[in-house]
Amino acid sequence: MRHLLSPMDFTIEELDKLFDLATDIEQNKAKYAHACDGKILATCFYEPSTRTRLSFESAMLRLGGQVLGFSDAGSSSASKGESVSDTIKVISGYADICAMRHPKEGAPMVAAEKSDIPVINAGDGGHQHPTQTLTDLLTIRSLTGTIGNFTIGLCGDLKFGRTVHSLIHALVRYEGINFIFISPQELRVPDYITEELKAHNIPYEEVTNLETVMPQLDFLYMTRVQRERFFNEEDYIRLKDFYILDTTKMELAKPNMLVLHPLPRVNEISVEVDKDPRAAYFKQAQYGVYVRMALILTLLELV
Ligand code: NCD
Repeated sequence: MRHLLSPMDFTIEELDKLFDLATDIEQNKAKYAHACDGKILATCFYEPSTRTRLSFESAMLRLGGQVLGFSDAGSSSASKGESVSDTIKVISGYADICAMRHPKEGAPMVAAEKSDIPVINAGDGGHQHPTQTLTDLLTIRSLTGTIGNFTIGLCGDLKFGRTVHSLIHALVRYEGINFIFISPQELRVPDYITEELKAHNIPYEEVTNLETVMPQLDFLYMTRVQRERFFNEEDYIRLKDFYILDTTKMELAKPNMLVLHPLPRVNEISVEVDKDPRAAYFKQAQYGVYVRMALILTLLELV
């Protein structure tokens, strides 16, 4: 039995197969409409989410399966003090596969050790968010034909943003990736990540100014300042609007640069940018459903 706890749990070849399947699902939706008949997905979300939880639910429903679960810790037995290990033991009898989001780093891994069903990490604290990374990689592959040989700027909250940590971790295995980290000093990417890049001789640059690097980028991955992970509100207020991508800044970018964002967006991308053909973030959210459909089928060994 397999789980998905980190994007590294799949080899590059396995990821390619997963993305091929996601692409086939996108193009032949009817073929998969009953692929999960009789199967149940549990969504155990101890932390707020709209997109990730609903995209998992949508994925399972589009495969003909059913879903159950909870969307905040307060409405689950966690509020009575139940451990994640006990919860997953019980859920193993109620469902065939579980997607879990938890504010504590490593919680889905603890659950996986006790689980009788595949566990998918749907985000653990500021640590990893592997299914968002699969979504990002599928988006890059679908919109440009390949993954590799590009310069990606990651902008915003690189300290707390788990989607950023996960994506960098996954991209390390691809050829010719050049990273530009764009953040305020306080929200720089953690040292363990830059150490990993140094160890692999992967080029990266850390800057605070978005405009100056804009012309170099093939992808700009914007992120929200992660309010819920700040220790005080004042720091959040000071930093929340540090970057606002608008049409003036977009003029500095290559004509084929793509803007990605895991969403939800707050102010970091002005709504006027949505009309720009280079804005790919809503398409990206749609790819999230196809890749989760492919992941569910793969972990349930139905393909
Ligand atoms: C991200 C997350 O939860 O980390 N959202 C998502 O899953 N699409 C990004 C965020 O909340 O900023």
